[in-house]
Amino acid sequence: MNSVRKVVIPVAGLGTRFLPASKAVPKEMLPVVDKPAVQYNVEEAASVGITDVLMVTGRNKEAIENHFDAMPELNANLAAKGDEARIALAAESENLAQIHFVRQGEALGLGHAVLCAKGHVGNEPFVVMLGDDLIDARDPVLEQMIAIREQHGGSVLCLMEVPQDQVYLYGCAAVEPADSPDVVRVTGLVEKPPPGEEPSNLIVIGRYLLDPKVFEVLERTEPGRGGEIQLTDALHELIDIDPQDGGGVHAVVFDGRRYDTGDKLSYLQANVMLALDNDELGGSFREWLKSYLSE
Ligand code: G1P
Repeated sequence: MNSVRKVVIPVAGLGTRFLPASKAVPKEMLPVVDKPAVQYNVEEAASVGITDVLMVTGRNKEAIENHFDAMPELNANLAAKGDEARIALAAESENLAQIHFVRQGEALGLGHAVLCAKGHVGNEPFVVMLGDDLIDARDPVLEQMIAIREQHGGSVLCLMEVPQDQVYLYGCAAVEPADSPDVVRVTGLVEKPPPGEEPSNLIVIGRYLLDPKVFEVLERTEPGRGGEIQLTDALHELIDIDPQDGGGVHAVVFDGRRYDTGDKLSYLQANVMLALDNDELGGSFREWLKSYLSE
């Protein structure tokens, strides 16, 4: 048992970068190889024992609820055929976690989505996971983040180095060294800095371990970049709050495998990389891809 029990996954976004695919299907339900993207997130949380999942959802997202629910008709149909293997596949998503839902109502920004989780989370540390980022199951980072919080308290981010010309697409952190090479103390945060104004080439990726103090800060956070209530702005404020009072921000610098599924090109790349590694499909997919590319 670890000290963190709850994860919040914001899924209310309209997914406009995936139109037309995301017109009637939530982008979180688009398959990556053989299962919906959002199932990877829930599996990642469950792999470290976090099985209380709150999805911050919106209109037209019922497919996500259905995916994590039991499907007696489908089971009956498969049972009649004696197809136990497919019954097990369909059930995978049902037994991973207890999934709860809260509606965001209006898309006022990531900070606002996280604030919608306040009632469910209460006064305990919690993880926020952004569905666009898939972390390879072979490079688990949540456990490391939990260990950093146990040592330093406060909140813990996950940073990655990217080329300088990519920084403007993300939240960016200024840092100083902490006690071990891949742990840093965060000294500043800025959401999507304009080119030339980046404090570093370390970007914030979609894994956060937050102290519940963040709710109090979010309640007074004004709209920032893009007119949205930014989680990054609230975290920037947490830096200067006393650690005794839930403040302080550390981070792990992650160098494992991360797949961005946030736009069409990176989504395709994620599919190819994960398909090549897939136990069932990888071998024949690799053979086919090689011969296809050599033609
Ligand atoms: C959000 C955060 C940003 C973070 C990014 C990670 O941005 O606001 O700080 O770097 O996720 O994927 P979005 O991708 O929603 O624009």
